[in-house]
Amino acid sequence: MLTQGQNERLTRVGPGTPMGELMRRYWHPIAAASELSGEQPTKPVRLLGEDLVLYRLRGGRLGLITNRCAHRGMDLSYGIPEEDGLRCAYHGWMYDVSGQCIEQPSEPSRSNYKAEIKLTAYPVEELGGLVWAYLGPTPAPLVPRWDMFAWDNVTREISAVMLPCNWLQTVDNALDPAHFEHLHGYYGSWVMSQRGTSEEWDVVRSRPRAGHHYRIGFDRFEHGIIKRRVTDAGDENSDIWKIGHPIIFPYTLRIGGGEQHTFLLRVPVDDENTWYVRYIVRVPEQGQQAPPQDAIPLGEIPLYDPRGRLKNDTIPSQDQLAWVGQGAISDRTTEHLGVTDTGVIMYRRMLEEQMSIVAEGGDPINTFRDPAANECILLPIEGGRYPGYDVEGGPFAGQESHRAEAEANLV
Ligand code: FES
Ligand SMILES: [Fe+2]
Repeated sequence: MLTQGQNERLTRVGPGTPMGELMRRYWHPIAAASELSGEQPTKPVRLLGEDLVLYRLRGGRLGLITNRCAHRGMDLSYGIPEEDGLRCAYHGWMYDVSGQCIEQPSEPSRSNYKAEIKLTAYPVEELGGLVWAYLGPTPAPLVPRWDMFAWDNVTREISAVMLPCNWLQTVDNALDPAHFEHLHGYYGSWVMSQRGTSEEWDVVRSRPRAGHHYRIGFDRFEHGIIKRRVTDAGDENSDIWKIGHPIIFPYTLRIGGGEQHTFLLRVPVDDENTWYVRYIVRVPEQGQQAPPQDAIPLGEIPLYDPRGRLKNDTIPSQDQLAWVGQGAISDRTTEHLGVTDTGVIMYRRMLEEQMSIVAEGGDPINTFRDPAANECILLPIEGGRYPGYDVEGGPFAGQESHRAEAEANLV
């Protein structure tokens, strides 16, 4: 249970807030690169409580500036991206990628008023089919080249949805492996039986429950937290315990196995909205060639059913239900954490620790400034196929179990 102040400290991301300052030390995905083509190569973007416009100039360069024209406040996402800047739809003031106003076609030709006009601008970069933005102090660190974003010869798929809830409750869920057996097992079975797509509920619920977690463990590692499990699917000698899967600080969960790797990114739009991005990479078999991909379209993740209720009929939609179902900002002043919340507690401590590092002027975890160390940052995943490796788990195969710094026995 947290105090109101503690909950606000962990959840609020606007400028000047402690979490907002920590989040401003990271690059965040704000669009699929494929969104900025065709008829309207602009996109209104809200990130960390700031309203911005992303645009691609005719030469291909990307810009990210405040989404209000300095003249009379027009929404610049309706503007025209030309060769040198984004031109406002209303009176044609034009802004370059530094936010500088470079043209005011309706002002007198003798005027140099434009020199006084500058909007806030932020750096943007493309990596892995996504556009990334950095809203923090300069010099900006490098965009982390996590393996899935950097790999060649793979197939990528991107989909996303705007969630009407705070980012933190979506990450709490990632640190809570035990929810699987109830939310996706028991509850999921109930949903299916209600729909008549499985046996009668009384038959289903009389069976022993499957997927029990006997032991859950969490380790700090150099990029975040590794989550380990002992379940019906594997004991302490299995990869779900020995390799586990990571939560990459501050908010990316890596899941998958076999050819399919998935990053689940939870981008804080503001205090009450999260842009949830599902980024899938398929790795071909050793020696095989992935099909060529010109552009990676952005798919829409469904959130509601036709009745306007949150969808609950698939594992991903059940997670969305749990996040949004906790309210706009989960009220942690009334929560009662149990032993299954061991990972949630570890993660909150890590957030506090990293906020303190930033407050003291330091670089938080996952700040990369050396290009040589950022070519392709390999991350562990149980059962995953890695390009260039014959064995499942790739470079992490056969590693000895970590210490499980924090763990809970759920027998
Ligand atoms: S409001 Fe943008 S040019 Fe006038
Ligand atoms: Fe889940």
